Amino acid sequence: MDALKSKYLEGIMAAGDESTLEDLRVAAVGKKGEISLKMRELGKMTPEERQVAGPALNALKDEVNSAIAGKKTALADAALNERLQSEWIDVSLSGRPRRQGTIHPISQVTDEVVAIFASLGFGVAEGPQIENDHYNFDALNIAPEHPARQEHDTFYMHRAADDDRPPHVLRTHTSPVQIRHMEKHGAPCRIICPGRVYRADYDQTHTPMFHQYEGLCIDKGISMANLKWTLEEFCRAFFEVDDVELRFRASHFPFTEPSAEVDIRCSWDKGQLKIGEGDDWMEILGSGMVHPKVLQAGGIDPNEWQGFAFGMGIDRIAMLKYGIPDLRAFFDSDLRWLRHYGFASLDMPNLHGGISR
Ligand code: DAH
Repeated sequence: MDALKSKYLEGIMAAGDESTLEDLRVAAVGKKGEISLKMRELGKMTPEERQVAGPALNALKDEVNSAIAGKKTALADAALNERLQSEWIDVSLSGRPRRQGTIHPISQVTDEVVAIFASLGFGVAEGPQIENDHYNFDALNIAPEHPARQEHDTFYMHRAADDDRPPHVLRTHTSPVQIRHMEKHGAPCRIICPGRVYRADYDQTHTPMFHQYEGLCIDKGISMANLKWTLEEFCRAFFEVDDVELRFRASHFPFTEPSAEVDIRCSWDKGQLKIGEGDDWMEILGSGMVHPKVLQAGGIDPNEWQGFAFGMGIDRIAMLKYGIPDLRAFFDSDLRWLRHYGFASLDMPNLHGGISR
């Protein structure tokens, strides 16, 4: 029995895979295995012999079975370990930003504006960049002889001599989206309309293509107070200062009555702009109560509905917020500039995570 015991236990210890183990099991405790055959011989023994051999054989059988089970687990563990080693992925390795692409400040600021106004219940509307002069001017109460048409330095699209359709222009502002939205969706509404606009102008603060966003809110009982609150709320969130002070200066736009230009309190310290403190004022937008004729042009009854509207330069507020001195650099596609002023691509602006993190 000792010989059997050491033969099988050593064999099991040395087994390198499951099939060797199985062979050993069959040879030892299988139906015709050596230990099983020995157990069958118990019947032929004297009771005294059986009393000694019986328990010893049973113990041997148990020992072999548990050695096999133990080895099986050890083999499975070893196989699993080997697999884990070969398939190991170092998830602790941190991402290394290669900074090959960044979010352009215009896109970043547009996302910031959209996030802030979304939190105030404003949706986003868009319109075409090639606009006809009805939407760009007439419907906004800018008559053909109105001086604002000249002020806008409009780009007119080429027209064949016999083309009698209304002239098309590159839109000079985002205001025409107001009319398109009113026509399509009626009142009430709360939207902002970001997008590209075009004017023939070029210097440190003007480029022939730039960005604006329009705001439009139409409902019943809307007043300048709603406009003021909305703009203050926006400026607080956008410039990330609790105390913003806005100054509403009487102005004139054909599409609003009354109209106001809005300045924000700021200071210039060693070329550094600070919003919300100091003795300077910086103009940031035009606004007012939507002119009854404009509501009418959009198919909305001005006796029933009122609205406020405003228009802001995206490039301009991006320059103010991020200290970018020259507007033209926005559109130079200079990689060094883009790397310097660009934003990480995975940080989407939102009010909870930080608007400009
Ligand atoms: N459209 C104007 C511009 O481009 C900006 C503007 C002023 C828009 C007043 C408005 C507004 O909606 O109410 O200069």
